Amino acid sequence: MPNLQVSSPTSEQTRHRVIQLELEAGLLADKAYTSPKYFYDTVGSVLFEAICVLPEYYPTRTEASILTKHLSEMAHVIGSGGTLIDLGAGNCAKAAHLFPMLHPDQYVPIDISVNHLSDAVQRLQQRFPHIEMTALGIDFSQDWCLPDEVRSEKRIFFYPGSSIGNFEPDIARNFLKKLRSSCDGGGILIGIDLIKDQAILNAAYDDELGVTAAFNLNVLRHINRQLGSDFDIREWKHFAMFNAERSRVEMHLEAITETTVHWQHEHRRFMRGERIHTENSYKYTLPAFLALLESAGFNNARSWTDKDNWFAVVYAHAN
Ligand code: AVJ
Repeated sequence: MPNLQVSSPTSEQTRHRVIQLELEAGLLADKAYTSPKYFYDTVGSVLFEAICVLPEYYPTRTEASILTKHLSEMAHVIGSGGTLIDLGAGNCAKAAHLFPMLHPDQYVPIDISVNHLSDAVQRLQQRFPHIEMTALGIDFSQDWCLPDEVRSEKRIFFYPGSSIGNFEPDIARNFLKKLRSSCDGGGILIGIDLIKDQAILNAAYDDELGVTAAFNLNVLRHINRQLGSDFDIREWKHFAMFNAERSRVEMHLEAITETTVHWQHEHRRFMRGERIHTENSYKYTLPAFLALLESAGFNNARSWTDKDNWFAVVYAHAN
């Protein structure tokens, strides 16, 4: 049986209060916002998996094709053994593809959505019984640390999907620095979405079927549960657009009509057309991203891209 733990020094009750205060601060801000981590409740995690197979959402399949094509070369650079730490593991499918080449001794999938994760890890442990597996529920937006069960020799952080794009560049650098300081002898294998034609970026975040719209709107259901608020989903619509000045795709929820949301002893009125900012997804040029890795202390970066240069996978050493 894989080991499963929700790694948090604080009690369940305290964590819930922290979440409520965080949501409340965002909803009461002049320009309302929520953290993208609130997308990933049970329904949201499944919707995200659906997004990953949409024709418009190129990152997942482009990254997969890069990994498949260059895996043996990557394995040569990375070497075998060690501990593979999967950041935002989700259904663990991406990491599972690496096992036959990287042969990790230990696999540590980490995700904020623990329920989703535990099902996936149990299935995976049956397929790969010789790899020690420890699943962790960690919220990277809070202060976090790895428990002692995670072996310290040769830690390879696997951070696929361009998830680092959710962070502001400065926060991303600090996050990378923190990873670097805890992976002596190892490194980071990271996927990064590259700047491209705006029409392609916009379509990837506003698909024809409306799956991304549902994913975005679902955050309101999650907030209603966490906060006891009364958002009426039907009063809101999905909005996504590339902001070229800031090199990021922004997602927002826009009020279709003037509306007031209530929770506990608070409320917030929204004008028609007013928005809640729900996500940033930063896009980089490869040189800019390599510079970011270097400024975080990583070196000897190797990168692989697809033929259109839409996406890159980079391995960089920690020492
Ligand atoms: C999981 C953060 C990489 O930014 O592309 C997909 C999330 N949002 N469609 C991304 C997402 C809308 C995704 N990441």
